[in-house]
Formats: sequence, C-alpha cells, structure tokens
Amino acid sequence: ALPTRVRIHEVGPRDGLQNEKTIVPTEVKAEFIRRLAAAGLDTVEATSFVHPKWVPQLADAEELLPLLEGVPARLPVLVPNRRGLDRALALGAREIAVFGSATESFARANLNRSVDESLEMFAPVVATAREAGLRVRGYLSMCFGDPWEGAVPLERTVRVSRRLLDLGCDELSLGDTIGVATPGHVTALLTALNEAGVPTDRLAVHFHDTYGQALANTLAALRHGVTTVDASAGGLGGCPYAKSATGNLATEDLVWMLDGLGIATGVDLGRLTATSVWMAGHLGRPSPSRTVRALSHQ
Ligand code: HMG
Ligand code: MG
Repeated sequence: ALPTRVRIHEVGPRDGLQNEKTIVPTEVKAEFIRRLAAAGLDTVEATSFVHPKWVPQLADAEELLPLLEGVPARLPVLVPNRRGLDRALALGAREIAVFGSATESFARANLNRSVDESLEMFAPVVATAREAGLRVRGYLSMCFGDPWEGAVPLERTVRVSRRLLDLGCDELSLGDTIGVATPGHVTALLTALNEAGVPTDRLAVHFHDTYGQALANTLAALRHGVTTVDASAGGLGGCPYAKSATGNLATEDLVWMLDGLGIATGVDLGRLTATSVWMAGHLGRPSPSRTVRALSHQ
C-alpha cells in the first residue's frame, strides 16, 4: 500500500546551490526560499554552516538567515561540527542536520575525517542541539555506492545508520549521493534497516538522479512505508566532494508522480515550476527536470 500523504524535504537552496558554479546573490537565495514556501513546501533546507572555503556557494549563511524571518516553513541548516552549531544557534536556527558517510573515502573527502572521527565530531553537536530544543536530522551519504569504493555492502550502511540514530538524530535521511541505486537495492536496504531495529517512520530517502532511477527508487521506498522524501526544485544539485554526483530528484518530477497517485503533498506544481524557471534564469541554464521542461515549454 502507498501512503496518503508525503512530506517533501526541499533541498534545492542547499544541495542544489552548493554545487552550482554561479554564486547566487544572497537576496536571490532568500527570494528562492520564499517562493518555495509559497508554493507549499513546508520544509526548505536553507543553507550550510560549513567551512566557507569548502563550500563558497553557501558562505553567506550569516547574511541569508536574517532575510528569512517570517517565512512559513521549517528551515533546517547543515552543521558539521561545534563551530557550525554555534554559528547556527547565534542566528536562531531551529533545526539542524549533521551529515555522515557510510564509506571511509567519502568521509575523508567531505569531512576530512574517518567515519569514526566524524561520528565523534557529531556526538556533542547532536547532544547540544537537542538540549537546546532543536530538531536534528542525520544524513548518511553513500548508502548504496561510492565513486571510490564501488558498491557499498548493506551491513555497512546499516551499521553507520544505527550509530547516527543512536547519537540522537530524530530522523535519518538515506543518501544515494551519486545516484547509483536501483529499486531492488532500496527495498533491500530498508528491509535490512528494519531487521536491525530501525523503524521506517524515522527514515527519509535522498536520491540523486544520475542514472534516471530517482523516481523509481522513490516509489520503492513509498511502497515500503517511507513518507519523507528529499527533492530539489528544478533538479538542481549534486555534491562538490563527489564528482559523479548530479542533481537531486527534481521536486517537480516527484510532485507530478505523487499528484498522479493521489498522494497529498500540499505543493502547488504550477507555482513551483514557475519558481524553478525563474531560478534557471538566474543560473543561466535550463532546468534539467523533465516536468519543468514539459510544463514550461523550456
Ligand atoms: P577541517 O579543515 O578538518 O576543519 O574541515 P578543522 O576542524 O580542522 O578546522 C580548521 C579551520 O576551519 C579552523 O579555523 C576552524 O575554526 C574552521 P582556524 O582555527 O584554522 O582559523 N572551521 C569552520 N569555520 C566555519 N564554519 C565551520 C567550521 N569548522 C571549522 N563549521 C569541516 C572540517 C567539517 C569543517 C570541513 O570538512 C567542511 O566544512 N566540510 C563540509 C563539506 C560540505 O558541506 N559538503 C556538502 C554537504 S554533504 C552533501 O551534500 C551530501 C548530502 O546531500 C546527502 C547525500 O547526497 O548523500 C547531505
Ligand atoms: Mg545530496
């Protein structure tokens, strides 16, 4: 059976813009986020409090957050360490995400740490954030395959998932960072997680569309009972520290499928598409989303 409602966790302003060559002006980012919320997205990941040299595209986090006061959406931000948490708390962030890796290669490339060292770095961040009443999401990257290590064994992903949840994350988002997953693999991982004691209602899925499998993978996850799906408006995105990653599942493609299945999202597809067309203008390239192209005759 399929769920009757899906919560979309919009990641365009963060996962999308972090990988664009163009550095988008802060006011344009704020307008992007306001438009996404106005299109009905109730969770919009706004930015990252990471080292500005690692992700210069999001170095304006301090300037951006104050422009978002009054936006009617949850606005989680990425935080890798204590320094990032302090910056986020100083700006009144209410929701954060830490981001780990199932593989050693990507932990090194993305966090300059081993898997164990990155979990040690997150532990006090999650504890402090929760004490301050914040909601904490954990991301796990390379859950299916890794550009350096190839296929990732289920048991490895399950083991690191358990450790991230045990730190106190409210929710765990399973990242197919380079978009190599296929639906059978998704079902196998979700089943293995359940067998290891992880309930499906604490899981979200985060697919990149490199091989065109993101929607099929999403449907497999919905059939398994997942109700939180990450997507990026217009299909923006990738990851600067994983070369073979392309954009996320496009939010428009997701909403088109869910509308067709009669699954509620609260999102107005027309307003969302108009937002992605507007953003594509700022980025100087058309949206890679098939649905955006079809609806806007781009
Ligand atoms: P590091 O170089 O090991 O940092 O980087 P460090 O702890 O050794 O500190 C070095 C200097 O950086 C210090 O300054 C710190 O204060 C400063 P100094 O004392 O030398 O003057 N520093 C900071 N400054 C500002 N904000 C901070 C911060 N932290 C340290 N937060 C670090 C370690 C984690 C900081 C670095 O590796 C980093 O910023 N990585 C972020 C990479 C990133 O954002 N990647 C993209 C997001 S993940 C993703 O996209 C995947 C996802 O979408 C899911 C999926 O698809 O799989 C989520
Ligand atoms: Mg991602």
